Amino acid sequence: MASVIAPSAQRLALLGGTRVGEVTYSAFPHFSEKAIARVGDVLRAGKAVGLGRFHSPEIAEAEDVVSRYHGGRKVLACSSGHAALQGALAGLEVCCGDEVITTPYTWGASTSCILHQTAIPIFVDVDPDTGLIDPDAVEAAITPRTKAILAVHIFGQPANLPRLRAIADRRGLKLIEDGSQAHGAEVAGLRVGNVGDAAGFSCMGGKVLPTTEAGYLVTPDERVFWKAAMIGQHMGRSPEKDFPDDLRPWVDSLVYTYRITPLNAVLLTEQFGRIDGWLAERRRHADRFRAGLAKSAFLRMPRYAPDVKPVYHLLTMNFDAKAAGVSRDSFAAALKAEGMLAFGYVPSPIPDWARLHWQNYQGPRVSWLSALEAAQVDYRNLPLPHCRHRIANSIETRFDFVDAQEAQVDRMLEIIAKVEASIDDLREHERLRGPATPARR
Ligand SMILES: Cc1ncc(COP(=O)(O)O)c(C=O)c1O
Repeated sequence: MASVIAPSAQRLALLGGTRVGEVTYSAFPHFSEKAIARVGDVLRAGKAVGLGRFHSPEIAEAEDVVSRYHGGRKVLACSSGHAALQGALAGLEVCCGDEVITTPYTWGASTSCILHQTAIPIFVDVDPDTGLIDPDAVEAAITPRTKAILAVHIFGQPANLPRLRAIADRRGLKLIEDGSQAHGAEVAGLRVGNVGDAAGFSCMGGKVLPTTEAGYLVTPDERVFWKAAMIGQHMGRSPEKDFPDDLRPWVDSLVYTYRITPLNAVLLTEQFGRIDGWLAERRRHADRFRAGLAKSAFLRMPRYAPDVKPVYHLLTMNFDAKAAGVSRDSFAAALKAEGMLAFGYVPSPIPDWARLHWQNYQGPRVSWLSALEAAQVDYRNLPLPHCRHRIANSIETRFDFVDAQEAQVDRMLEIIAKVEASIDDLREHERLRGPATPARR
């Protein structure tokens, strides 16, 4: 059995050995010189504020570019992914106690858009391999109060859109997609964002399609587009020329400020011009990583059907703690010490979070508690076994390889191989010291 007497070249950095070396990334987000020049032009021309597509050619251009990417669907550029998602719900008139079946395994904004509409999130379990919402669990949770399903394409993996669409159609529900981590992902030939009744995407600077802060809504339904615009776009003084007449009496300035700036609109346009190349690079690097990871004894990537094309926003791996004989957190700490980002992205199932527990809530007041109380929904101690297992056993890492970065992929593989080769030392370390603190980003 290997022990602390391993030569220092192989000794784990966590135990005082020499680290393999930092995994590095090119500047991200990267903006072309043209994009930067266009931002300068907008600033110099005094066009930095734009009240929607009819006031700003830059916003109209961005919406048209994104619309072409989404097969001609209506696109509303927004200030953020959250704004786009809340706009999607508002556009579909999902609010006021309606139940929305959704995933507990995501970033909080996929849930807060529901809460901010005073709708009621109903959390169901996920696929244990991918962490994506489980269509069978969705179907089992439908009640007469259910109005919509909100699926999240987490880590760039597309949710099972064919099944979710079929369930929504059969049961008379709306389907909303959160594509914030998955621009360009596909399943069964369907691009995410093109299947739901509405979809919201984030384009904040860490995403697959990054600007600085922005988002956009996609919908096949013109009325959904206009109703979404009504809640976030300050159209009060001048409803646009195509605006539906029957909605005009309800246009005012009782709105959220969810408009995009022309600065981010030009970035959105320019970044979309590069998306195909970026996705190809992410996928190429992911294929290399998957091939190298085949040698790993304890880590593997989720398994995808041949018609599933993820975009690898973050790279997610399943860790076999039983085979390794150490906790996920100790293993991640060892990877991190060698130079690789390694963390659990989702800290706990969203329904565990205290700000949803109206029954015993002590914190600063929040607007959604009365809706949750009126619905008598109790999120405390939901079983969600697959979600909990994945939270405890997955390892995520950054994967923004959008130019030739094979050496960095190989370095990650080298780090993993080194930690696995010294697993006995890590086990002994954990036996003496206990597991590492939870691996957070
Ligand atoms: C899955 C998911 N949904 C929604 C959002 C919200 O996007 P934004 O930060 O642009 O509001 C994010 C990212 O932050 C996200 O990762």
